[in-house]
Formats: sequence, C-alpha cells, structure tokens
Amino acid sequence: METKLLSYANDKEKAIEIASKLLKEGKLVAIPTETVYGLGADARNEQAVKQIFQAKGRPSDNPLIVHLASKSQLMDYVLPYPAYVDQLIDTFSPGPITFVLKCKKILARAVTAGLDTVGIRFPSHPVAHALLSKVNMPVAAPSANLSGKPSPTRASHVMEDLSGKIAAVLDGGPSDVGLESTVIDCTGENPVILRQGKITAADIGQIIAVNKSPQDITEQPKSPGVKYKHYEPEVPLYLVENESKLITLAQREQAKGNRVGALVNMEVAKSIKQQVNKVYILGDSEAVYAHELYGKLRAMKKEDVDLVIAMNVTNQTIGRAVMDRLKRAATKIDA
Ligand code: TXA
Ligand code: MG
Repeated sequence: METKLLSYANDKEKAIEIASKLLKEGKLVAIPTETVYGLGADARNEQAVKQIFQAKGRPSDNPLIVHLASKSQLMDYVLPYPAYVDQLIDTFSPGPITFVLKCKKILARAVTAGLDTVGIRFPSHPVAHALLSKVNMPVAAPSANLSGKPSPTRASHVMEDLSGKIAAVLDGGPSDVGLESTVIDCTGENPVILRQGKITAADIGQIIAVNKSPQDITEQPKSPGVKYKHYEPEVPLYLVENESKLITLAQREQAKGNRVGALVNMEVAKSIKQQVNKVYILGDSEAVYAHELYGKLRAMKKEDVDLVIAMNVTNQTIGRAVMDRLKRAATKIDA
C-alpha cells in the first residue's frame, strides 16, 4: 500500500477532505495532535481498529484512547461520572489530557481491550480538531509509532515507522508538547494519574482543591500500556544522575573503544562536548526538553554512536513526565 502524505499547509480543505473520506472507509490515517501524532481509525469499526494493532505491532491487551471533537459528544460513549470530571474537562480540555471513564458498549471491543472503561481525549491541535469535526465520529488513536519505538512528533517520524502500512499521514507540522497526554483515571472518588504528561498533579490539585487536597491525587502508573517496553532508541541508553557520573561512564566506555553520545541540556552540553563523541541537546527549559526528547531518541543511530548516556533533568513541571519517559527508554539506570 502506498501511504499518502497529505500536507495541511499546502491545501487545508483537500487534506481534511481526503483524510476524512479514508477514515469513513475504515482506513488508517495518522493525524497531528498537540502531544504526538496519533494513528487514527473509526472507533466504532472493529476491523478498522484491529488494523491499528496490526500496523503498530501492538499487544491486544493495551486499550486505545478515543478522540472527540467536543464535550457535547461525551455522553454518547460514557456512563455518568463523578462531579469533579466536569471541572477538569472544562479547565483542561481541549488539551493534552485523557480521562478514563466507565463506558457504554458502543465502541469496537478492541478499543477498550475488553475493559469497562475508555480513555477519552479532546485534542486542541487545530488540524486534529478540524478533522474530528468534519468526520463527526469517535476516532481511536494510539501514538503513531511502531510499538516500542519513541512516539512520533513529526509526520516524517510516522513515515519512518509506518510508510506502506497505513493509508495516509496528515502532516500538520511538529507537535507542540512533544510528550503524550496525561492519563487520569476518573472512575473513583478521587482522580488518579495513570501516566504523567504536561498537565501535572499540582495543576489538577488546584482545580479540585475545593473538596480534595492535592495529596489525594495519587500518581499510579497502572495503565495497561505502561508495562511494555517503550521509546527504545537504536543504541543502548544509560541514564545517570549528574555530570560527574556521566563523564566517568563516558571515559570508561571510550576506554573500551566505544563511541559515546550524551543526551543533556544546553548548559551541560557546553561543558562536556569535548569529552564525548556526539552531543544530543535537549534544550534549555523543561518545555523544550519535552518538545525535543522523542526526536533526539530517534536521531540516535548506530552509525554515529555505540551508546548514549542521558543525564537527569529538572522536574518541576513537564520535566516530571520527561524523566518518566527517560526512565522507560533507558536500558540501564545509573550504570
Ligand atoms: O497524547 C496522547 O495520549 C496520544 C495522542 C495520539 O492522543 N495517544 C497516546 O496513545 O499516547 P497510546 O495508545 O500510545 O497510549 C495510551 C495510554 C496507554 O498507556 C494505555 O494503556 C492507556 O493510555 N489507556 C488507554 N485506555 C485506558 C483505559 N481504559 N484504562 C487505563 N489506561 C488506558
Ligand atoms: Mg504509545
């Protein structure tokens, strides 16, 4: 199958028209969102949803997030939910947050992997929003990478992984956030964060602090997806605490004849650039680390380096989610 590359910038109406037609026919279309690119299909169409799992090589027990254009569609798919959910949706949506809610049995079974809950997200990306409004259907979309690889933050990343396996990629430029949405379980009395993202426990605590203290918002990585290996670069990635450990490890590996890369922020990059074979710069703020991380993991190639050493970054805001992804991507932590 030849994968069409649809450029939104070149011809907005045509790109949305073709992507919408393909989705309605039960085909797979990769779509830009503000977090990462998603691999979309009609969430009501069992065959279409099964193709998502095939194209990605995704284990069938890992449920998919369903994307909707607006909150007015929500009650078509979910059962009544706790009162705090409306407060959270009204504050953070559209945006990089997914709400796990009890679901009606309307969607294809494969979407929820047999669970009685579904993850719902309202993307804020204008191209995703335009497409969702046009197709007027629930769109199931996991990140549009091969299972185990870093999530795609550009159309070219999707092409790298899925060209020939899916009908089209809708190119809407680089993803703004760069990390997947915060996933929050809203089935209980208190919300529980299942996957960290741009919207943090502190952000959520500010909104529902009226009847719950922020300490009640626990972070518990229990989404089915988090048990699988993720974000793996082509070469081994070691994660260390600080610059001196990075330098010690780099010297040890270079003494063995290995070419060593370093994945670090701008400041550290300047001070260590003479001591490693290649530097992958994450940037100079937590927002930039998030934006750059997956592109840099994809850029680590065997032809350039034998291994890469990443260093812990600050974790005040989205840096927490960056650290979470770095730990999952790492072959070894504090080697
Ligand atoms: O930002 C995002 O969330 C992107 C864009 C495309 O929307 N999507 C994404 O999907 O990251 P995916 O499939 O790569 O990750 C979805 C995560 C998985 O860890 C999955 O296990 C969890 O959400 N999840 C989905 N439905 C769930 C449910 N009903 N209960 C618990 N966890 C769920
Ligand atoms: Mg994913």
